Amino acid sequence: MQECLAALRDGLGAAGVATDPQAMEPYLTDWRRAFHGQAMAVLLPGSTEEVAEAIQICARHGVGVVPQGGNTGLAGGATPAGPAPQVVLSLARMQRLRKIDPIGLTMEVEAGMPLVTARRIAAEAGRAFPVSIASEGTATVGGIIATNAGGVNVLRYGMARDLVLGLDVVLADGARLNGLRHLRKNNAGVDWKQLFIGSEGAFGVVTAAVLRLVPALRHRRVALLTLADLEAVLDLFGHVTECCGEALTAFELISPQAMELVARHMGRAAPVQATGWTVLVEFGSSLPGLDSALDELVEGAFKRGLVQDGTLANSERQAAELWSLRENITMAEAVAGPSLKHDISVPISSLPQFVAGFESTLRSIDPEARPNLFGHVGDGNLHANVIGYAPDKAAQIARAIHDLAWGFGGSITAEHGLGQYRLSEFERLAPPEEQAILRRLKTALDPLGRLNPGKAIPRQ
Ligand code: MLT
Ligand code: ZN
Repeated sequence: MQECLAALRDGLGAAGVATDPQAMEPYLTDWRRAFHGQAMAVLLPGSTEEVAEAIQICARHGVGVVPQGGNTGLAGGATPAGPAPQVVLSLARMQRLRKIDPIGLTMEVEAGMPLVTARRIAAEAGRAFPVSIASEGTATVGGIIATNAGGVNVLRYGMARDLVLGLDVVLADGARLNGLRHLRKNNAGVDWKQLFIGSEGAFGVVTAAVLRLVPALRHRRVALLTLADLEAVLDLFGHVTECCGEALTAFELISPQAMELVARHMGRAAPVQATGWTVLVEFGSSLPGLDSALDELVEGAFKRGLVQDGTLANSERQAAELWSLRENITMAEAVAGPSLKHDISVPISSLPQFVAGFESTLRSIDPEARPNLFGHVGDGNLHANVIGYAPDKAAQIARAIHDLAWGFGGSITAEHGLGQYRLSEFERLAPPEEQAILRRLKTALDPLGRLNPGKAIPRQ
């Protein structure tokens, strides 16, 4: 391995290769400290050419490559897994903006650019890049593409996949696939870039991307509403869709337990009678007129008896305060102690039955465990997380929750991905023919299995 390290130092220079254990530590553990891995080095290439060179050197020496963005994932996808020799390949030094075209609504950036920077640059140009996640200060453009991140605005703009127009990718043998096209329409055969979106670096390493921008929302209104049960939440969603669906940018759910965690650990209390389920509804538009739409909506919801209590933000500051209740749930959960993350999706109409099943399953397996439910109800995506569980019950709980979601025709991960955390559950549940096609793709693109070993792709 000394030979491999020497070649890497030759190729990337001293600034591009870290082997000091202290310097490597932050790259070998995820932010929740749920996953820990080993690596012989952390590579920090400064260009796509250097990424290609690093991958070629590693391939020659039989070393696995674990691509890493902001290391904010929740499924251990960016942490090395297993004993085989591996390096972490961080894109942190590749953060440049290459081009922005406000008329064509595109922006070309390097993969290591933090998401918050991409969003700021788009806003400064009078446009928006609408992937919004709580970790956007640290998450990177490459990371959100590799994991096909979701977030709070998916119901309006789609997942990361829907906002990528072109990619520059380095393959397992070091070959470069440059598809950095600024095109809204390109139907010339198979859209190969989709293979690299959401495959967690197992098919290739994304080094730059052309992103699709959208019109900036000059007007925004946010409401926080409490409702008695999930049937009422779904009725409200239907009502919102009818009344002003085109302007809806978020429809997020916070359970009473999640609200309580945020109050206890983050010192933020909801300005509503939060005894029931809370929904955060956001509307946005480049046109004025949202105020009357929102008034009509809230009036209608009260008239129909859907809503128990509610508050409307009257300023950007108040809107941010309401959002902070939702955005602080993950942090509050982390402060509360270890948590079992579940990221299921089911058809939206099945959400009430799913939640009833989730609560009774949890009670029967571990009566002490506490649910922490919240999520993107407008996408049918719930984070059915669990805290205060007995560690020896964790695997049983996860299996039962996944079985439940699967039984509703759902998915075991709506937005966080398989990573190393859910891979064996995917292998247990996914139809053999689906697993086989993924393995065939992996064999075609990375026959020696060097890219992100043990993640995303079912093993034999
Ligand atoms: C969120 O929606 O806040 C995160 O995706 C969920 C989580 O931390 O489990
Ligand atoms: Zn989420």
